[in-house]
Amino acid sequence: MSAKTNVRIFDTTMRDGEQSPGAAMTLADKVELGRQLDAMGVDIIEAGFPAASNGDFEAVRAVGEVLENAVLCGLSRAGPKDIERCAEAIRSAGRRRIHTFISTSPIHRKHKLNMDAEQVLDAITASVTLARNFTDDVEWSAEDATRTERDYLRRAVEAAIRAGAKTINIPDTVGYSFPDEYRAVFEDLIANVPGADAVIFSAHCHNDLGLAVANSIAAVQGGARQIECAVNGLGERAGNAALEEIVMAFKVRGEALPFETRVDGPQLLRTSQMVSRITGFPVQFNKAIVGKNAFSHESGIHQDGMLKHAQTYEIMRPEDVGQGATSLVMGKLSGRHAFKKKLEELGYSISDNALVDAFQRFKELCDRKRHVFDEDIIALVDDQISHAADSIQVARLRVVAGTDGPQTAEIDLKVDGEQIWKTARGNGPIDAIFNAIKEAAPHEAQLDLYQVHAVTEGTDAQAKVSVRLSSNGRSVSGTGADADTLVASAKAYVAALNRLRGLGNRTNAQHSAA
Ligand code: KIV
Ligand code: ZN
Repeated sequence: MSAKTNVRIFDTTMRDGEQSPGAAMTLADKVELGRQLDAMGVDIIEAGFPAASNGDFEAVRAVGEVLENAVLCGLSRAGPKDIERCAEAIRSAGRRRIHTFISTSPIHRKHKLNMDAEQVLDAITASVTLARNFTDDVEWSAEDATRTERDYLRRAVEAAIRAGAKTINIPDTVGYSFPDEYRAVFEDLIANVPGADAVIFSAHCHNDLGLAVANSIAAVQGGARQIECAVNGLGERAGNAALEEIVMAFKVRGEALPFETRVDGPQLLRTSQMVSRITGFPVQFNKAIVGKNAFSHESGIHQDGMLKHAQTYEIMRPEDVGQGATSLVMGKLSGRHAFKKKLEELGYSISDNALVDAFQRFKELCDRKRHVFDEDIIALVDDQISHAADSIQVARLRVVAGTDGPQTAEIDLKVDGEQIWKTARGNGPIDAIFNAIKEAAPHEAQLDLYQVHAVTEGTDAQAKVSVRLSSNGRSVSGTGADADTLVASAKAYVAALNRLRGLGNRTNAQHSAA
């Protein structure tokens, strides 16, 4: 038996993470990610904010249907309507939690809630009591806890415990705390609030000062036994504590931190790539644990040390987090069987029909690119998975570019099964492509971001393009990958358009309603 103490990992990628502008997820995205988080060993999955919209409600419910081990959690403000809606969304899940919150800091009480301290205490008691009618597993959060008067925070936590909350979350909502201060809050509450020994304390840190992971670890040292975090550190503003960094901190520094989580390290990279694909948010190259460069050694001194002994410059092995050495995979002559095996190795299980399609695309890529790497296959299959069900698809693209304008794009789009051909000019080839798409599928959305990344090195590398569009207060991202940057750009734009269509009446403004 392990001598280490378990720390619960509460994933909020689909709730706080989704609150990042442009990171909205569809129901299908959430189901896919929920399955993966569950398989990876996350303990609690906060799948959304059911009262925010019908879309969020349905997505929370659908995630609950696929979870095998993890607890399904829905977020709810303190009002009865929110709590009842949340209870309804999680009702059929095997293990279910209502997470209800209210602000406790003086600035939020006065300017956001317009309530006095006693009214907030009454709301805590009423909300937790109501939530307990629907499930024994109720979590209560003191929003903006770290800017709350300490004696008042003790009273608020005591009210929540008395009303039946089993988990008490102390968020650093604005990412303001230092680790020693945050740790002291937990030590104080655990030592001084009646009933504290019977509940689990939880950390929830935002990264405004880049301290979210450090603060979460400090909270555990101060007695917290649950950490709320998000894959790739996604979340409001500068994001939440990054799940992968927390998990690996406990694994790598076991001698200093006698704690463990249930999360399977080798699945971290795959999960990170899934979140990046779904949200269209690229992972920065130097991102800890899951960045492309996290295990690359450039300087001669480092490379020399690595060759002599890997631990000279590596505190964990790439395979511990699912990063394999970049491997040259296969080429033109590889058969379908070998390709299928490669996909399995990379963690994909796709239907026979999808395999036929992926194999065909792989062969086409081999004709266009000298060396095909694992990353190329991942980009290719991810691209296929994300666009398979799209109602608008790029069927054909032809572009005239170069010094002698006008730059022109000619596009065939399939819109709800109907083939539409349009041509347009633009200020450069990308502008021309986007104008042609607008002609073929008229919309009001505005382009907020356009980014290109190379999937691997070399001039024949595949391009991965991210596009962010916004319309009526909604902001969405789409990605596209192709050996041709212009085709990847068209696919990314169309992917974002599909997302806007798919989200219907959902908004990103969940938190503003809180
Ligand atoms: O940051 C925060 O305070 C939150 C709460 C709703 C838990 O996300
Ligand atoms: Zn938050």
